[in-house]
Amino acid sequence: MSAASVSRASPVLFEDCVDSTNLYLRRMADTAADGTAVVAASQSAGRGRMGRSFLSPEGGLYLSVLLRPETDPERLPTLTPAAAVAVCRAVDELCGVHCGIKWPNDVLLDGKKICGILVESVLGGEKPCVIVGIGINANTASFPEELRPIAGSIAEASGRRVDLHALAEALLRELDGLYAAWLSDAGAALEEYRSRCASCGREVIVGERRGFALRVGDDYSLLVRFSDGAEEALRFGEVSVRGLYGA
Ligand code: BTN
Repeated sequence: MSAASVSRASPVLFEDCVDSTNLYLRRMADTAADGTAVVAASQSAGRGRMGRSFLSPEGGLYLSVLLRPETDPERLPTLTPAAAVAVCRAVDELCGVHCGIKWPNDVLLDGKKICGILVESVLGGEKPCVIVGIGINANTASFPEELRPIAGSIAEASGRRVDLHALAEALLRELDGLYAAWLSDAGAALEEYRSRCASCGREVIVGERRGFALRVGDDYSLLVRFSDGAEEALRFGEVSVRGLYGA
């Protein structure tokens, strides 16, 4: 991939291999311009949610964007689902497919995870910022056995190789557009998120508890009715969804 044909107001850096595109931008947090993006062909220490690692071989797209939103920090959790919608739009438009979302922010194709998103706040430095990190299994050839029921690639689902440069370009365009909309309205992606959310209307397991996912709330929480009749709005965490990821 080269930077030549990505036209965008903010800088886009292309790297072959980095430890993690999120860490890469974190190291630039005091100096990088708002909107700076880095795209890598692979990562040696890709980071996932909840302290997990994120497998990042060649064939995938690993992209992070550094943002400096001047906003109430309470709005920040709504940035992650907006990013998930941006990924869906970019993949749909480029690959002629229709992506769904497993709450809170796994992007799905044919019931398998093709993308993970990790949004991290960088506080305490001279200039606070938020880093939105996105890893897409675009042409990823194979997955370790334990991930096979969960993870898939766009190429596997669509039967066609993905042009990674075109995907990076489409993704940055959709991210930039939705971010601009999000700055004035934190719910800018809400209706589309709801329509793509594959967790609703299914049985779920949350920790040891079984329930039924009813709907996505106005704050992107997942409203679950548990088997004892109690209803709770989940704001973060892991939910197993019957019918997805082999559950
Ligand atoms: C998850 O599903 O657990 C989130 C995975 C996020 C992975 C992306 S890849 C680009 C960016 N750099 C990282 O180290 N992580 C994110």
